[in-house]
Amino acid sequence: MTSTKPTIYQTRRLPTEVESALSTLGEVRHPPGFRPPTADDLRKALRKSDAILCTVRDRFSANLLRTPGRRTGLLANFGVGVDNIDLEAARSVGVRVSNTPGVLTEATAELTIALILAVLRRLGEGERLVRSGGWTGWEPTQLLGRSAHGLRLGVVGMGRIGATVARRAHAGLGMRIRYASRSPVPPWELGGIEAEKVSLDRLLIESDVVTLHVPSTPETHHLIDARRLALMPPSSVLINTARGSIVDEAALVAALSEGRLAGAGFDVYAEEPNVPEALRAMEQVVLLPHLGSATLETRTAMGKLALANLRAWFEGGTLPTPVV
Ligand code: DGY
Repeated sequence: MTSTKPTIYQTRRLPTEVESALSTLGEVRHPPGFRPPTADDLRKALRKSDAILCTVRDRFSANLLRTPGRRTGLLANFGVGVDNIDLEAARSVGVRVSNTPGVLTEATAELTIALILAVLRRLGEGERLVRSGGWTGWEPTQLLGRSAHGLRLGVVGMGRIGATVARRAHAGLGMRIRYASRSPVPPWELGGIEAEKVSLDRLLIESDVVTLHVPSTPETHHLIDARRLALMPPSSVLINTARGSIVDEAALVAALSEGRLAGAGFDVYAEEPNVPEALRAMEQVVLLPHLGSATLETRTAMGKLALANLRAWFEGGTLPTPVV
């Protein structure tokens, strides 16, 4: 930290309102032309900036965080997920980390609902049919999907986003909710809806739609693996708006191509932006480019929260949303 104007490294373009507010906090630097920063750019930024405003795409490995001559004291992550940062290493070298929880809950839950509907009602296939010029007109048996109403939704991880998806799916779509989570969630946090807590395996066996809302940690890596995919009924679908690492993508491709799973809706992937070619070739799968929080209001709110953390850090105050 410095007592004069602090230096902030901004890794990516942000909504205009956020960039204007950021410029009042200190001297802002960024990669030339805002090209994606390389590891070398980040290393230099760690040496030359008091704080870095980074995103879920910017990887801070242990090696990078141990950069000799480091000046950076805070990584203000623009995102709730912090799996891009080696938190253990940050802790051990004394770099603080903040994130942006809460403000993206509604947008991410909304996108999850959109994916559930898109997969069940075959919206991707329908859209491709119209765009290809191959649609020959209404047919009584054309692209028949499934109605969400009355289906069993299994929510894996009942944090803020999982609970919001549960409430909306129940109130808006008439789905029946069950969840798997480390601790039970009191009914008032679920808006009074009926939702039984069950084991993950039972949830997979007894759900029509499974939606994932756990963070990416060593414990959740490939949480949904070949064994667990085999528990899901062949008519069921899997939705992932959390993190790609939670699902074994090779096992997912095998389950889908062998008809052991009816469909999938994914917004996140293990090695973004690489999406397995086999998945891209499947009609029964809806694939989005990590759009969970992609609304202007949400991205602006995320920026403001990241800025609140930067401001608190520069003023020696308490970080509003600390991770480390
Ligand atoms: C997050 O915040 O973790 C999202 O994945 C990006 O908005």
